[in-house]
Amino acid sequence: MTNEPYYQDDLVTLHHGDCLDVLPTISGVDLVITSPPYNLSAAPWGHLGHYKQGDQTGSGKAWLGASKAGGGIAYDTHDDSMPWVEYESWQKKCLSAIWSALTDRGAIYYNHKPRVVGERVWLPTELNPGLPLRQVVIWARSGGMGYTPTAYMSTHEWVLVIAKPEFRLKSRGASGVGDVWSVPQQPNADHPAPFPIAIPARAIDTTEPKLVLDPFAGSGSTLIAASNAGVPSIGIEKSERYCELIARRLANQTMALDFSGETV
Ligand SMILES: C[S@@+](CC[C@H](N)C(=O)[O-])C[C@H]1O[C@@H](n2cnc3c(N)ncnc32)[C@H](O)[C@@H]1O
Repeated sequence: MTNEPYYQDDLVTLHHGDCLDVLPTISGVDLVITSPPYNLSAAPWGHLGHYKQGDQTGSGKAWLGASKAGGGIAYDTHDDSMPWVEYESWQKKCLSAIWSALTDRGAIYYNHKPRVVGERVWLPTELNPGLPLRQVVIWARSGGMGYTPTAYMSTHEWVLVIAKPEFRLKSRGASGVGDVWSVPQQPNADHPAPFPIAIPARAIDTTEPKLVLDPFAGSGSTLIAASNAGVPSIGIEKSERYCELIARRLANQTMALDFSGETV
């Protein structure tokens, strides 16, 4: 990684690199909206009995049914099947580094999802390194995937709002938006797991940040939402292919603005 941004315009700075390397260079962020890889090709616990006998390491590799075909996601430069113990410690490190980049009024909107594995549910709060969890916002999707006889099909995800004590919404009206956000998925042919632009757009609209960050920028949804709102933002993305995608989307958006005065 170099210190040079991969892409920059009046509002957006995009870094190509590992977020753990770049985050220590960033400060003054009011709002983080992000969604890490979910590690879907591995399973959360060794103690559930879904491992081959003798595997108490929590490696996840021996989970019966764990496979890309079983719901995992292949990112360009990231295998979504880290040993679970490693994944958990990685995400805790990332959240701590993100926390350090926040102002005293800052908050992290951390999108992840509960998973039923066999007879028990795993909750994303397991990834919190002890930071103050203010609220869980539910992202109600427009449907689900996957059938299991042990539980109802999941049709929602969580957004953990991890906030500094001085973090406030912009108004009482913003509070009235509620804690269940019904937003249909918005697939992108060039990225396997984007969240819809409406999710970061709503977070930005209700909090009025001065600087937004997404350390797992993916297809750039957060950066596009911030740009649409006229708010400066910083993105970090490990895959050069996805950085190219983000730069293309942002450039197209600027072109569309130039031609019509409206965003795409
Ligand atoms: C769930 S996707 C994010 C999707 C994004 N919210 C969007 O709407 O497009 C997670 C992203 O994290 C990226 N990633 C994985 N490891 C990373 C790391 N160490 N540093 C930065 N980005 C990473 C992956 O390449 C992937 O694009």
